[in-house]
Amino acid sequence: MSKHTALIVGGTSGIGLATARRLNDRGATVHIGGRSKERLDTIATTDPALIGHQADGGDRDAITAVAETIGTIDWLVITLSGNEGPGPIAELDLDMLRRAFDAKFWGHITTIQAVLPYLAPTGSITLLGAITARAAMPGTAGIAAINGAVEALVKPLAVELAPIRVNGVSPGFVDTPWWNALPEDARRDYFAQAAQALPARRVATAEDIADVVAMAATNANITGTVIEADGGARLVSMA
Ligand SMILES: NC(=O)c1ccc[n+]([C@@H]2O[C@H](COP(=O)([O-])OP(=O)(O)OC[C@H]3O[C@@H](n4cnc5c(N)ncnc54)[C@H](OP(=O)(O)O)[C@@H]3O)[C@@H](O)[C@H]2O)c1
Repeated sequence: MSKHTALIVGGTSGIGLATARRLNDRGATVHIGGRSKERLDTIATTDPALIGHQADGGDRDAITAVAETIGTIDWLVITLSGNEGPGPIAELDLDMLRRAFDAKFWGHITTIQAVLPYLAPTGSITLLGAITARAAMPGTAGIAAINGAVEALVKPLAVELAPIRVNGVSPGFVDTPWWNALPEDARRDYFAQAAQALPARRVATAEDIADVVAMAATNANITGTVIEADGGARLVSMA
């Protein structure tokens, strides 16, 4: 059987990097894309099997150039996002919210358009939403809208792009550098509080979510599905 090829745009940290490692362990050739050269340099040392590309998912020409270098891609995984967007609606800065849409939603559209001509007909696209899209957490209307928009792509694209499969994974609280804007002590306290409230009684690791992303990317029978991997966050009040 020929070796599968994966491209993970946003694969230099957190869930994307954990997914890259999972797919590499399964024998795939794994390419990762991200903007920071520093992150790519570190990964070149820690994970020499992963093939790094410095590229911005919001830059169509840059992602096209990456895809062209790779050739045929079986599994496209998009884990890029900014971390702006939270806040009470009355105080939401609209410029900030527009930047947040640019950083996540428009980055997805641009990356999908750029990679599409290189995707194998038996291939897949896996997106990362967030449970805020379907939960009711105060202070998350902005990021709920962004992640709702990303997750809304899944069903129509699964039909429009068939037989290419299109899925989403919707995590809740995951311990990754996404949270680095919070000082370490505050982050630890917040996670401890969240873990108490979550039915799973724990904040997820990047590897927990990577298992689900890898399944969505590789399982030939899953398409048009957003998999909730949120520790039960949508079932309880996280206010
Ligand atoms: N962590 C959570 O609790 C959580 C919960 C729900 C949903 N999610 C979602 O899960 C996904 C992955 O999050 P994570 O926690 O793994 O975040 P992360 O650790 O911050 O990783 C994000 C990755 O995306 C890359 N990236 C960001 N913007 C990019 C761009 N324009 N082009 C290319 N690469 C870009 C970053 O590298 P560079 O900055 O170097 O480009 C980094 O490698 C995101 O969609 C996030 O919204 C996370």
